[in-house]
Amino acid sequence: MATNRGEFSSRFGFVMAAAGSAVGLGNVWGFPTQAADNGGAAFLFVYLLLALTLAYPTLMAELIIGRHAHANAVSALRLISPGRGTARFGTVTGIYGFIVASLILAFYAIVAGWIIAFFLASACQLLGLDGLADWLTRFGMGRNLLFMALFMLLTIGIISEGVQRGIERWSSRLMPLLLATLLCLVLYVMTLEGAMDGLKVYLLPDFGAALKPGLIIAALGSAFFSLSLGVGTMLIYGSYLTDRENLPVVGSLVTLVDILIAVLAGFLVLPAMYVALHNGVQIFTDSGELISGDSLLFTVLPELFSTMGIAGVIVSMVFFFLMSIAALTSSISMLEVPVAYTIEEHNVGRKKAVFVIGGLIAAASAVILLNFETLFGLTVSFTTRYSQPLLGFVFCLYAGWLWHRDKLLQELRKGNPEVAQGLFWKVWPWHVKFVCPLIILAIFGQALLG
Ligand code: PHE
Repeated sequence: MATNRGEFSSRFGFVMAAAGSAVGLGNVWGFPTQAADNGGAAFLFVYLLLALTLAYPTLMAELIIGRHAHANAVSALRLISPGRGTARFGTVTGIYGFIVASLILAFYAIVAGWIIAFFLASACQLLGLDGLADWLTRFGMGRNLLFMALFMLLTIGIISEGVQRGIERWSSRLMPLLLATLLCLVLYVMTLEGAMDGLKVYLLPDFGAALKPGLIIAALGSAFFSLSLGVGTMLIYGSYLTDRENLPVVGSLVTLVDILIAVLAGFLVLPAMYVALHNGVQIFTDSGELISGDSLLFTVLPELFSTMGIAGVIVSMVFFFLMSIAALTSSISMLEVPVAYTIEEHNVGRKKAVFVIGGLIAAASAVILLNFETLFGLTVSFTTRYSQPLLGFVFCLYAGWLWHRDKLLQELRKGNPEVAQGLFWKVWPWHVKFVCPLIILAIFGQALLG
């Protein structure tokens, strides 16, 4: 049955696809600016702690459940539920997950559209088409809708090809390219005047700033967002893994690549901001904080590039190309969640499911764009800040409490017969049972009360 629904052909293919999902705007853009605003290396420390103690165990819960069921989240949670009530709860969780995945894609496609527009704008500048470049970089409804739709079409095109020919093939091509591009950019920016100041801000810890209230929930949200957790993405990718695969090992590889790229992006974005400062660009807000969010990406960095002459145009092109790849390998994993559900639960062919669902998500994106001021921020915080950790919490409950421990061990043994003697089996089951749910609840409680 597994091969009918598609399967990754190799470990490399899976790791590239899952790391491709994980590595996205969250790493290349979200993480570095949050680190800058919240104590540099101290934030990095909090983030690493949360990634290893909460996000990795939750990722493992999703991968193991997915691989066991070889099915989408709704069927998978139903399958491992011990009774009728929990099965129903599983259905609700799976459906909530795919709605959240679709909403994430709806806002992600908007930002990714801007990124593609900025990439093309640099190309236009190279060709001397300054008028067009200007239109491409100005916030206008026509441009926004057009490039959102273009990005959705790219995502739809890849997903309509299926697991091996679509997801695996494109992730395996694009991820090495992303890493190489990122490395080149980091090395180049480091040679510029002012870069060392940025490096200091990134690497010197300020623990006072990292312990600000509200920060931990933000770091938790970012860690879950960054590893694509809670919405069934990793579960569905896990469901396309062969039974021969050693799950704790592939899960660690994906986590490490994700963390590595976030940390590397910090070596690019922060030094670049201080190079911008050195070149006379405003990088602080009126209240003295570093500019972050969309102004960083679409104002500060372009202003920096424009101070650098022709080299700036090329660096800008390479930078927005890198961001486009990061966004695309993530967006395909978001679309796969509702698509896999529809194919498996409602017996619809892949192509039809992809076009209908992709079209609906593009329509949702358009609604967000038309009500940008009210809906954009709301969608981002509803999905990433609250829903993802909450759904991750439920996955931990399933793996830790509701699923039979022997079945879990059996699943892990498939790809690693000695797993019961190893460290993973000694730590993970109780960790996912007690530590993860309690910490997630505590952080939520603090956020709601504080
Ligand atoms: N991990 C992706 C990023 O860092 C975002 C994502 C979230 C992807 C949820 C899939 C599902 O940008």
